[in-house]
Amino acid sequence: MAMAILFLILGCFAEVESMLSHPDKITKLPGQPTLQFQQFSGYVTVDDRKQRALFYYFVEAEKDPSSKPLVLWLNGGPGCSSIGVGAFSENGPLRPNGQVLDRNEYSWNREANMLYLDTPIGVGFSYSTNTSEYGTVNDEITARVNIFFLQRWFLKFPQYAHTPLFITGESYAGHYVPQLAKLMIKFNKKKMVFNLKGIALGNPLLDFTTDLNSRAEYFWSHGLITDSTYNMFTSMCNYSQYVREYYRDNVSPVCSRAMSQVNRETSRFVDKYDVTLDVCIPSVLSQSKFIAPQQNAERIDVCVEDEIVNYLNRKDVQKALHARLVGVRRWDVCSNILDYDMLNLEIPTISIVGSLVKEGIPVLIYSGDQDSVIPLTGSRTLVNALAQELGLKTTVPYRVWFEGKQVGGWTQVYGNVLSFATIRGASHEAPFSKPKRSLVLFKSFLEGIPLPDATVRR
Ligand SMILES: *[C@@H]1O[C@H](CO)[C@@H](O)[C@H](O)[C@H]1NC(C)=O
Ligand SMILES: *[C@@H]1O[C@H](CO)[C@@H](O)[C@H](O)[C@H]1NC(C)=O
Repeated sequence: MAMAILFLILGCFAEVESMLSHPDKITKLPGQPTLQFQQFSGYVTVDDRKQRALFYYFVEAEKDPSSKPLVLWLNGGPGCSSIGVGAFSENGPLRPNGQVLDRNEYSWNREANMLYLDTPIGVGFSYSTNTSEYGTVNDEITARVNIFFLQRWFLKFPQYAHTPLFITGESYAGHYVPQLAKLMIKFNKKKMVFNLKGIALGNPLLDFTTDLNSRAEYFWSHGLITDSTYNMFTSMCNYSQYVREYYRDNVSPVCSRAMSQVNRETSRFVDKYDVTLDVCIPSVLSQSKFIAPQQNAERIDVCVEDEIVNYLNRKDVQKALHARLVGVRRWDVCSNILDYDMLNLEIPTISIVGSLVKEGIPVLIYSGDQDSVIPLTGSRTLVNALAQELGLKTTVPYRVWFEGKQVGGWTQVYGNVLSFATIRGASHEAPFSKPKRSLVLFKSFLEGIPLPDATVRR
């Protein structure tokens, strides 16, 4: 009883505090419509010498934020901005359109308080004043700055410190998210600090060879390469072999030949992140250029206009966001100064996902099914194998799920804790290309219930 009263009082303070102006509160972003929820952004220093600072953007839930969970979203790269990609083109409430910001009707802040983090240092508006540090960043350092960030962020927003927390992300966040969650569980073993309730990963890199080598079959089955090129790409030099050689500056003649042939047939004019999309798409969709490096690739910029790059480079926008450019002349979707340890691509994280499941943390792996960079087939194989290894029985058999009257994709659940789902017609950036379906998926994930089945159809 005493506890309950204490919490009530604390709750009141939190209310009062949020009514007084928070230093990171965004008064108004240039061109934004009137909003019924609060936005915050700014920096959190992540070392005691205050050399490193990570930039975040936080949008409270549209309705009743204190009753909604807190969701951290991370984009991949490594080196791409979660604010630029995630918030302003995928699942955030606002999307730049010329001089104004349009509302995204399917924003994830309809269901949760959304926290977007530019990580690690050197990404988006995040920085280190010691530029030699940009050459030393890897998965381990990223996980450590991320957890340090969260601890300090909760000091700024104490009313969220005990809120149910979910970590979500995409692409290379298939490394960041499980690694951060693992570190949280380690911290929690000493003293409960993180109220972690689940993780969700979209088209994630979980296992270098399985994920990368599922590309050949995807290309072949979608008509992007011929039978003979498929044979070359699976026997002479497969894709994981090529990327391995590429990041060791040692591409063999045979791999060089195989890749040239693949590139010639797939062509530069099809978007590899959505094989059915035309190429004129924002540069934010290039977030996995590091996962899918291209030798001698000519950088074609078919889109003259790039709304997000233009918007986030405006001085008035940066001022409104409490952001600044440190050590760079302009804001970029993916960092040009970060020199991430690319051999970390080869670190398997599916085993970390397994350890999280064993701890009882719900995990959702989902795939935009038009993506050839991290195709659904590799992810599905990995999840299925993990379920077998952990001895998890199928609790929802492979079946379609619905968004309205249409099939939103397919799903399977193992042991009520490990889920796989596809999003039909979606790209690597699923919430960008299929926002409505992605929101249905997100809501089910947060509520811990299976995706809607045919009974909702009628
Ligand atoms: C800058 O970073 C480098 C690489 O981590 C480190 O060796 C050096 O001591 C740092 N310099 C300062 C002044 O902190
Ligand atoms: C990819 O190529 C490497 C090196 O030739 C080989 O060890 C590996 O088994 C191949 N993987 C697949 C899935 O073909």
